[in-house]
Amino acid sequence: MVKSLRWERDTLYLLDQTALPHQERLLACTTAAEVVQAIKDLRVRGAPALGAAAAYGLVLGAREIAATDLEVFLGRLRETAGQLAASRPTAVNLTWALTRMLRAAERAGSVEQARAALLAEAEAIAADDVRANRAIGEFGAAMLRPGEGILTYCNTGALATVDYGTAFGIIRTAHERGLRPRLFACETRPVLQGARLTAWEAVRLGIDVTVITDNAAGALMRRGLVQRVIVGADRIAANGDVANKIGTYTLAVLARAHEIPFIVAAPLSTVDPDAADGDAIPIEERPPEEVTHLAGIRLVPEGVAAMNPAFDITPHHLVTAIVTDAGVATPPYAGTLGRLRAAAVGG
Ligand code: MRU
Repeated sequence: MVKSLRWERDTLYLLDQTALPHQERLLACTTAAEVVQAIKDLRVRGAPALGAAAAYGLVLGAREIAATDLEVFLGRLRETAGQLAASRPTAVNLTWALTRMLRAAERAGSVEQARAALLAEAEAIAADDVRANRAIGEFGAAMLRPGEGILTYCNTGALATVDYGTAFGIIRTAHERGLRPRLFACETRPVLQGARLTAWEAVRLGIDVTVITDNAAGALMRRGLVQRVIVGADRIAANGDVANKIGTYTLAVLARAHEIPFIVAAPLSTVDPDAADGDAIPIEERPPEEVTHLAGIRLVPEGVAAMNPAFDITPHHLVTAIVTDAGVATPPYAGTLGRLRAAAVGG
């Protein structure tokens, strides 16, 4: 499988996700500013992949700082981290990874040591993500029965992570175990991560996948084709409210109306204990052109306004379970997520 990102010879290579599925094009980044731009342009996307990309972006940023005094160096490093963190505000994995990176640099005794520590920490963040995804796959697949129709949204696979995937990782593990999941991938307007990216990954892995328009989801549920909805998350509040790709909330309401389990899968790094509930999560507003245009062609009459919130909040009461790398949390999430986090920090 082609990797979402790769660090080689002082360069961060990103698989340009805006070019998929037609072209497998690598984007070479050698400065933090290039990484910021790539994140804003969705060339790399998905909460865990954003965290790892930002971490490597800070490694690049550290190389651009000429200061030899450690305190001056750290001050500039924090500014670069701020620019990377602001590139996309909803995915908490960005600030989570950058905080980890700054702590690593702050433990160093010199600028040279700090630069080395930053690279080591970025590599550790990337490796931890793959381990976390494998664990999510194991915990999640254990919940599934053979031959289930599973509806998913956006892209949560290897492209959205360092490798393997979160919600998609569960489907992938189920497939590897011979459970024959039948995947329904919502196309995911406005920029079609489901149609372009999830379908691309599923086909390469030999997973049975059918792409549907987002507005077909309810009809499929009513026809009994969907036994489970599994989605990812960009940030999960302490009470279990979930921020994820715009349209996730609609699916959760539909799933509840049809008594279908609605499962969220994410590493603990996506849980934000500082956000008490979904109202505390910032929602990114993206350019209106993503709504008014499709593949560069204007669909909406000139002069018409378009709103483009990139994420929505699914209230915790619509979420059946949250599958993390440390285990499965069930309601009430304030207690169960807190215990999983405490055990992971302690252990
Ligand atoms: O705007 P995107 O494509 O970055 O949104 C991605 C999602 O909403 C994913 O579901 C989420 O980041 C989890 S990815 C494992």
